[in-house]
Amino acid sequence: MNYIKVKTYEELSKKAAQIIASQIVMKPNCVLGLATGSSPVGTYKELIKMNQNGELDFSTVTSVNLDEYVGLDGTHDQSYRYFMNTNLFDHVNIDKSRTFVPNGCAENLADEGDAYDALIKALGGIDLQLLGIGLDGHIGFNEPDDVFTAATHEVVLDESTIDANARFFASRDDVPRKAITMGMMSIMQAKKILLVANGAAKKDIIEKSLFGPVDPKVPASILQLHPDVTVIYSEE
Ligand code: F6R
Repeated sequence: MNYIKVKTYEELSKKAAQIIASQIVMKPNCVLGLATGSSPVGTYKELIKMNQNGELDFSTVTSVNLDEYVGLDGTHDQSYRYFMNTNLFDHVNIDKSRTFVPNGCAENLADEGDAYDALIKALGGIDLQLLGIGLDGHIGFNEPDDVFTAATHEVVLDESTIDANARFFASRDDVPRKAITMGMMSIMQAKKILLVANGAAKKDIIEKSLFGPVDPKVPASILQLHPDVTVIYSEE
C-alpha cells in the first residue's frame, strides 16, 4: 500500500487528479470507478482544469459510480447522478451515455444490483477505483457488518452516515435511509484503488482501516488485501 500524507486538501486534490489523469493517458478507454461526497470534489475540479486546458481527454473514458440513494432520481439535487453531472461530467468531454450510476429508483433493487455487476463485468472491470471513506469506515455505502458483501446491493444507512450527510440536505429527516451500493467484489477487483480522505475527523478511521485487523466491522480494512492501493490523506 502506498500511503501518502499531505498537509492541505489542495495538495491531496492535485495528487489524486494526477493519478487519475495518468490512468487516462495510459489507457484512454479506461473504466474509472468514481465516488461522490465532499472528499473528491477538489480532485474533480483539478481534472476539469486539465480537460479544459486541453491536457486531458475524457472522450473515450467510461465511468461507473459507487452508489446512489434509494428513491432519489437523477434530477434530485442530492442524488449522486446529479452530483456527478454538476461536479464533473457537465464540465469535461466525457460521453454521458458511458457514465453509469446505480438506479436508486429501480422497482427491483436486487435486479438492479445484479444488472450493475453484470455491466461492470461486461465493461471488463474497473481500471481505477476512486474511494472516499465514511467516519464508520464505509467505502461506497458498505456499512460495518458481520460480513463483507460481494455484490451490488441495497443497504440501510448507519445513523452516523445519516448524521454526516445531513449537511447536504435541508434537514436530517430529508436524508434517505437507504442506498444501493457497489459491493466489495467490484471494488476489490478494480486493478488499482485510490482512496482520498481529509480532515482530523478521518485520521482515526484511516489508521484503523489501513493498519488494524481486517474486519467487516471496519469495511475499508478489506483494502489491506488489495495489491495496488494508494491512500492520500490530508490533515485539513
Ligand atoms: C460516496 C461514497 C461514500 C463517501 C463517504 C465519505 O460515493 O461512496 O463512501 O465517499 O461517505 O464522504 P465525504 O467525502 O463526504 O466525507
